[in-house]
Amino acid sequence: MERSLTSEQRRKLHGLTSRPLAVGKRTVENRLWMAPMLGLGHVAFRAVLADYGSCGLMVSEMCSALAVPSENPEKSPVFKFTREELPRLSCQMVGAQPHEFIPAAERVEREGFFGVDINMGCSASGICAKGRGADLLRDPDRAEAVVRAVRKTVSIPVTVKFRTGWSRNPAPAVDMAKRLEQAGADALIFHPRVAPDKRSRPPLWNHIRLVAEAVSIPVIGNGNVCTPADALRMFEETGCAGIAMGRMAIARPWIYAVMTGQESGLPANYLHYALRLMDELETRYPDPNRAMKLYKKIAVYIAANHAYGLRLQGALVRGKTMDDLRENARIHLTQDKQTTERPNAVLFTS
Ligand SMILES: Cc1cc2nc3c(=O)[nH]c(=O)nc-3n(C[C@H](O)[C@H](O)[C@H](O)COP(=O)(O)O)c2cc1C
Repeated sequence: MERSLTSEQRRKLHGLTSRPLAVGKRTVENRLWMAPMLGLGHVAFRAVLADYGSCGLMVSEMCSALAVPSENPEKSPVFKFTREELPRLSCQMVGAQPHEFIPAAERVEREGFFGVDINMGCSASGICAKGRGADLLRDPDRAEAVVRAVRKTVSIPVTVKFRTGWSRNPAPAVDMAKRLEQAGADALIFHPRVAPDKRSRPPLWNHIRLVAEAVSIPVIGNGNVCTPADALRMFEETGCAGIAMGRMAIARPWIYAVMTGQESGLPANYLHYALRLMDELETRYPDPNRAMKLYKKIAVYIAANHAYGLRLQGALVRGKTMDDLRENARIHLTQDKQTTERPNAVLFTS
């Protein structure tokens, strides 16, 4: 049974989350970030997330450093953004060699993003085979050189998202954190899982503490924060400066407002969320098939909040047009549906 917070604990959490955080020469208004997620954290979702409020910083889907210099934001599937969100959006880039990042970082700064985030966490074989993502953790000299190159190129904040590495021993991650700091990183987002791990094994939060204690730049903890009680526990157990949430941002975009105690006035209502998201997707993605595909990915996370989530997921994604999907949402996302405090683990790890 989930432990809900007492009013005193809730006040404590609101205090911890609501503090501004200096990252390099800039300040993030609070301590709750949205973690980067390919296929989920796109421009349409971010517009909806902004409506619910209280997310201090968002990180884009991963973009190829080689592609960024010539990307057309009107056509690119991932290097897509609105002017309004740029002050609270870092662009995540994935690449292998320091020189690949230089023109990309220049473009990111020129466009007006909050900062550059470097992906050292993705362990997908297609990414690592090309020396990118978590493969950089196998070669600390190259990882450090990437950060140095980006640091020299831009004056906006440079952050790195990384994970424990390729073994369960946290020592290489602690050493890596120190090297990334020395190379000029302004903050680290740390996901304490080994690279081949899928999300079914719990992240080792005690490794976040080890990393946070090793450096003087902010360390943002990441991994399996699902409820306000989890967030309070992560702050208390790890000493992290902030928390990045990935899947919960998608499952319940109002969770930031709940955790900061600054509710936006919008209802915490799945039907409202689904309909608003479909409208944004249609506006941002003129190809209806792509818009529907992106909605269906998020529908899995909406369903995960419900008892009988697997069945609900099937009911939400049936149909050939966005209007079919709207109709499904109106029929199935009714107020009487039983929701769960913690999302369905099967849907969340699929
Ligand atoms: C569908 C999906 C796509 C992801 N894409 C990225 C990505 O592009 N870059 C990245 O650094 N991490 C990516 N991640 C990892 C998340 O940023 C995060 O580390 C992970 O989901 C654990 O956090 P959570 O438990 O709050 O979801 C992705 C995760 C998911 C579920």
